[in-house]
Parts: sequence; structure tokens; C-alpha cells
Amino acid sequence: MFSLEGKVALVTGAARGLGLAMATSLARAGAHVLMNGRERERLEPVVRALRDDGLAASALAFDVADEAAAAAGFAAIGREFGRLDILINNVGLRNRRPIGELSLDDLRAMLEVNLTAPFALAKAAAAMMLPRRHGRIIMLTSVAGPLSRAGDAAYTAAKGGLAALTRSLAAEYGPHGITTNAIAPGFFATETNAGRVADTKFQGFIELRVPLKRWGRPEEIGGAAVFLASDEASYVNGHVLTVDGGFSSSF
Ligand SMILES: NC(=O)c1ccc[n+]([C@@H]2O[C@H](COP(=O)([O-])OP(=O)(O)OC[C@H]3O[C@@H](n4cnc5c(N)ncnc54)[C@H](OP(=O)(O)O)[C@@H]3O)[C@@H](O)[C@H]2O)c1
Repeated sequence: MFSLEGKVALVTGAARGLGLAMATSLARAGAHVLMNGRERERLEPVVRALRDDGLAASALAFDVADEAAAAAGFAAIGREFGRLDILINNVGLRNRRPIGELSLDDLRAMLEVNLTAPFALAKAAAAMMLPRRHGRIIMLTSVAGPLSRAGDAAYTAAKGGLAALTRSLAAEYGPHGITTNAIAPGFFATETNAGRVADTKFQGFIELRVPLKRWGRPEEIGGAAVFLASDEASYVNGHVLTVDGGFSSSF
């Protein structure tokens, strides 16, 4: 079960953090993983490391918010592989500030990367998946979306919108054999969160609010990605799979 042998997967933002963890898990399940990020130099060492482990991976650098660059990326996938089976829209920006300090341009920039780009990439991926009547689109939302905190309006709005978009794509592409689901991570100890991981006050919050009493390890997101990408998830469509140690189920 859960083999991705022969599948081609694109993971955005795969140079580090949850993107790298999911790309690694997909590759271990047998997929050829196209690892995306803005900088080829940051992708090359991680691609090399996966290949050194006998896994199939390539770098595919483009900025997800750059429509022309993304289109060129998808054209390259078409030329080289002639197919795309799995898209993981992992890139996400955060801009924590109170609403009074959040300009419309700040909000637009967040929506551009966190909502518009996943829409555009899902559309481009679906165009490659539709002729084969098979595909898996996976979004990275967040526990911020259904839940919120002060000072996080733009991110919460974007991730809530992304969960809604997941359901819309599920409804529209489902009849064509393409499933769309999302993974909603809780608190993960990625590079981006290094400051908070080192913050003893925040550690207290984690121990109080997360039933498992700890941060998530990036590799703990991989199983959810492999499951949703696999044939075993063939009847799962429009679902947001929360991976948060129980945070959003308890108070
Ligand atoms: N970490 C958590 O605890 C957590 C919790 C809830 C939700 N999430 C969500 O999970 C996803 C991954 O989180 P993370 O913490 O692993 O992220 P991260 O550490 O910030 O990694 C982001 C990756 O995306 C790439 N990237 C950034 N902007 C890009 C762009 N415009 N185009 C292409 N690549 C871009 C970066 O590489 P380059 O800079 O080289 O381009 C980097 O490799 C995000 O959607 C986030 O909102 C994370």
C-alpha cells in the first residue's frame, strides 16, 4: 500500500521545512519528485542528498507567484516527463502584524502567494492531469484558517480561503478523476519557527495547548502527504487533514 512508484510529483517550497520533508517522503514512496523553490542553488544540495540516498529527484526553480515563470516550469515538466501526477502546493508566507499596521498591499502580497499562486498552479497541474483522468492536488493550509490569533489576519484569511478553494477544486475536478485535499499543520519545528522553538515562553504555550506536549517534527507531515497522494486515498476528496498533535481538538 501507499506506493508512488512511477508517479511524478511537484512540491513547491521543497528546499527546507515541511516541503523538504514531504518531498523526501514522496520520493521514499517511489515518486520522482520535482523540488521547487526560488533559488536553484538552494535546491541543488537537497536534490543531491536525495539522489545520494538512491531516490529520484530534480530541481525545478521558479517563483510560484510569477505567472510566466510558473508556466515555463510546467512546460518543462511536460517536455521532460509528459505527465504530472501529484502537486503539493506547499509555499506559504506569513506576515504577523496587527490589522492597524497591515496595509492593503501587505494583504494583497499575502493573498498573492498563499491563495492566488496555489490556484494558478492547481489549474496548470489539472491541465496536465485531465487527459489522464488522474491526479492528486494537495494544499498546505494551517490550523490558522478555521482558528485565528490576534496579529495574523492576512495569513488566516489566506489559509481559510485556501481551504475553501480546496473544496471548490474537489467539486470541480472530482468528476475528472482528480482529487484535491489539504493538510493543515499545527506547530512544526521548521527553520521558519526556530525563534519560537527557542522561546521558553512559547514552549510553555505548546505544552499547555498541544495534547502531545511538543512541537511537530517536520518528518511527521510526510505520512499525510504520501497517504493523500496515494491510490489508497482514491475516495478522499475535499478533505482538510489536520496534523497538529491534537491542538485544534482541545482547550
Ligand atoms: N511550519 C509550521 O509550523 C506550519 C504550520 C502551519 C502551516 N504551515 C504551512 O506549511 C507550509 C510550509 O511551511 P514551512 O514552515 O515549512 O515553510 P518555510 O520553512 O518558510 O519554507 C518555505 C519554502 O518555500 C520556498 N519559497 C518561499 N517563497 C517562495 C516562492 N514565492 N516561490 C517558490 N518557493 C518559495 C522557500 O525557498 P526559497 O526561499 O529558496 O524560495 C522555502 O524552501 C506553508 O504553507 C505554511 O504556511 C506551516
